[in-house]
Amino acid sequence: MRARLDHLVVSALQQGAAVPAFTCYDFTTALAVVEAAEQAGRGAILLVAPKTAATPNGLRLITALRGLADSAGVPIAVQLDHASDLRVIADAVAAGADSVLADGSSLPYEDNIALVREARAVLAAQGHADVVIEAELGGLAGDEDRAFGADATRPLTTGADAVTGTAGLTDSAQVEDFVSRTGAQLLAVAVGNVHGKYKGEPQLRWDVLQDIAVRTHIPLVLHGASGIPGEELVKAAAMNVGKVNFNTELRTGVLATLEDQTPLHRADGENLQGLLGKWNASAKTFATGALATLTR
Ligand code: 13P
Repeated sequence: MRARLDHLVVSALQQGAAVPAFTCYDFTTALAVVEAAEQAGRGAILLVAPKTAATPNGLRLITALRGLADSAGVPIAVQLDHASDLRVIADAVAAGADSVLADGSSLPYEDNIALVREARAVLAAQGHADVVIEAELGGLAGDEDRAFGADATRPLTTGADAVTGTAGLTDSAQVEDFVSRTGAQLLAVAVGNVHGKYKGEPQLRWDVLQDIAVRTHIPLVLHGASGIPGEELVKAAAMNVGKVNFNTELRTGVLATLEDQTPLHRADGENLQGLLGKWNASAKTFATGALATLTR
């Protein structure tokens, strides 16, 4: 069923839980996430990557996800993830996304605020003032769509190396000003989390998270959850982290399954239908585990 992402997240936090968000590059994965959410009786979020939303087929995928979310038996939100291009934001919302991460985290502070405000203005002009906006303060190392080892402690680098650089931890002293001037309804933070794979053990800065949590009432968002042990993730909701984003680990499972199962299904009469069933099962197992962890 249709759900406002902020309401979904706030209601989970009130129950001491967080809502998992899963990147869906395709419909098979999204079906698996929704099935897992329905079986758990919990809400979930379908994330669409900006590179997906920048293509005509990607916009059609968003429209398909909209239909899937609306027909689900539990609240499901469809969010455009990490977007900094206003055109992509407008197109994704027109196609059916009900929330957007207007991501100016790689920009200077004032430009980051300006981007979020512009996104709001563009959507309002389009008749979509009700779209929920997440903003990001502080920068995450790593790549959103491809997993390479990323180090959250490395200083920001530029050029070809920028993909593994980081703009650093969220500055908690900026949080109140940032939230009030952007009007963001959720805040993504950088507290030692990275996109993709962690170089070494993840070292989450719970002290920084705690300091951020006392400075704003809006729910916080933890990106880069792949690789963070479940016993760490369960602590998130207590620090007002109501949304936790997963991508890499979901891909790892699906790719391992496809690698393992493709020869068997090829031999079984080019059985693509059966192979898609295995893909679905892998994604569903992962989503079921994430839902259980975040409601523990
Ligand atoms: P991971 O790929 O590290 O799980 O990060 C996902 C994410 O934050 C999507 O926004």
